[in-house]
Amino acid sequence: IPWNEIALETAREVEKEVMPLFGTPRAGETIGENVSGDVTKYVDRVAEDVVLARLQPLGVNIVSEEIGFIDNGSDYTVIVDPIDGSYNFAAGIPIFAFSFAVFRKNRPVYGAIYEFVTRTFYEALPGGGAYMNGRPVRVRKPERGKEALSFYTRGRCLGLIRRVKRVRVLGAIAVELTYLAKGALDGVLDIRNYVRTTDIAAGVLIAREAGAIVADERGKELELRLDATTKTNVIAVNDRYLLDIILEEL
Ligand code: IPD
Ligand code: CA
Ligand code: CA
Repeated sequence: IPWNEIALETAREVEKEVMPLFGTPRAGETIGENVSGDVTKYVDRVAEDVVLARLQPLGVNIVSEEIGFIDNGSDYTVIVDPIDGSYNFAAGIPIFAFSFAVFRKNRPVYGAIYEFVTRTFYEALPGGGAYMNGRPVRVRKPERGKEALSFYTRGRCLGLIRRVKRVRVLGAIAVELTYLAKGALDGVLDIRNYVRTTDIAAGVLIAREAGAIVADERGKELELRLDATTKTNVIAVNDRYLLDIILEEL
């Protein structure tokens, strides 16, 4: 199955449908509640309808952020967030993306994130590296005293602010994980017990393939449940010493 083509085609179809709504009040209208208890905005529905129409004919299982798990009895499960960063989208902040990860049984086989505004396509080939528009990317080596971190802590772990140089919280964790992968951020963490597999599945694959360490809040390698409702903590960094600093502050 040519997952790369399916991912990019689906992302482009979503782009075509949603971009006219960028920054409009209509995009942000609440139209319901999703399976994980979060609100579904109009743009979430538009984007997800495109994704389902594209993936359902493939007969694969689908885990998508609003609708949840669709079991089609396949060995393949595609975990999608049709639009990660929908607050940003509706508010007119240009940081949001399409996130797509494929598993065969429980093993990852492919990951992709498409950042709409910059039209950047990130991919992970498990065991074969991470790519940005077809070119390999790697995490950078952090310079002590110059670290740039994105973190969501809901008031916990604030001591971390003083231990790094830059804090950049961008509101779309899928995008932030690609920034870690390409060496623009040194770490991304969310310890609110709030992110779902749909938010991070592709981003974790891409970051890992680019050389990142992706751990849970105990410092163990993060394992994802392939569902739409489990909430988790994630600590993704480009170097062990940053993980140690973060774990100390927790
Ligand atoms: C959100 C983004 C954001 C994270 C929130 C998520 P959504 O996803 O990933 O970075 O902080 O927890 O809900 O709802 O915009 O797809
Ligand atoms: Ca999301
Ligand atoms: Ca979403």
